[in-house]
Amino acid sequence: MLKIPVIQDFKNLKNKRVLLRADFNVPLKLAGDGIYEVADDFRIKAAYPTIDYLLDSNALVTICTHLGRPKGEHVKKWEIKPVAELLHRSYPDVKILENLRFDIGEEKNDDSFVKRLIENQDFYVNDAFGVSHRAHGSIVGPPKYLPSAAGFLIEEELRVLSKLLTNPPKPFVAIVGGAKISDKMGVVGALAKVADCVLIGGAMSFTFLKAQGHKVGQSMVEDNMTEDCLILLKENSNIILPTDFVALSSDGEFGDGARSGEIKVFGCDIEEGFRGLDIGSQTIENYLSYVKAASTIFWNGPMGVCEDDRFSKGTHLVAQGVVDSDAYSVIGGGDSAKALSDFHLNGQPDYVSTGGGASMEFLEYGDLPGIKAIRECKLKLA
Ligand code: 3PG
Repeated sequence: MLKIPVIQDFKNLKNKRVLLRADFNVPLKLAGDGIYEVADDFRIKAAYPTIDYLLDSNALVTICTHLGRPKGEHVKKWEIKPVAELLHRSYPDVKILENLRFDIGEEKNDDSFVKRLIENQDFYVNDAFGVSHRAHGSIVGPPKYLPSAAGFLIEEELRVLSKLLTNPPKPFVAIVGGAKISDKMGVVGALAKVADCVLIGGAMSFTFLKAQGHKVGQSMVEDNMTEDCLILLKENSNIILPTDFVALSSDGEFGDGARSGEIKVFGCDIEEGFRGLDIGSQTIENYLSYVKAASTIFWNGPMGVCEDDRFSKGTHLVAQGVVDSDAYSVIGGGDSAKALSDFHLNGQPDYVSTGGGASMEFLEYGDLPGIKAIRECKLKLA
């Protein structure tokens, strides 16, 4: 596992001003006229052990985070208020700054922004695992100027994810779903090297199938990725594709809103006028047989359009299979975790990572810009 300085390495935190970078980029819901509240506090609670440790050590804590993607503009919807209200119910004595992304300097990693951010601070702690794959100002900037360490959440994420990369109990089954293979090509390749098999689901399957010469009807395909998909399949015979699909006629509507259209089941070839939106029962059965035999499981991304109950069966049954299995199971990222909680499954995975993109990049590269910045900080923690 990567060795990095951690908060227990600070010799004396008493009355020291600590800037804590957290990832409180949480889903919000409307609670009244233009008033938002936190819809899911999973990421906020994940930082509590670090906040507790800092406060118990009598540090003076200022928390900073991004929220949404306001792109350098002050957007009312993305004000930090709902997060601050929730946090202050447990911690009236910590300060929280306004959304970092209201300043374009954050995403641009602008040095003057970083200097303003760290002004009057003695130490920096990064516990924002979910955004540590971004070389943003608040992530990679402070370790240039302040003694820096990782918080307990980052330490735990690294411990769990490193275990997947180094000698995971076998068989190790990775399940990767989602819409775009372009986002996950690297991690699928990396997982194929350490796992016994990588089960593919979601719309990304159609780019692979089209590359192999199958008919995909009107299913979503990234045409510019077909060559890469063929190479990936050739180099990794342990990448497993779905063999049947539940599809909707192209005039049908699906997702969160209106639902209409004709539904049909196809094998690997989907008829013109239909688009595949979930894996079929033969694929589910096959994937569950891998899951049952596994000793380690990593899962990221849905098997179909799981917010529409006509196309949620694949994700639901695979999720139930994962939590039922005796394997050590790790779920990568908020979306997959949300899908799991929406199904009200009996049981829990062993670990749910707070970072979607971050966990995938860590599995691909074995490191992240935010982790590297802490590791390379030259300033003593004393
Ligand atoms: C996330 O939600 O994945 C992290 O907070 C990073 O957010 P971003 O994708 O907007 O950079």
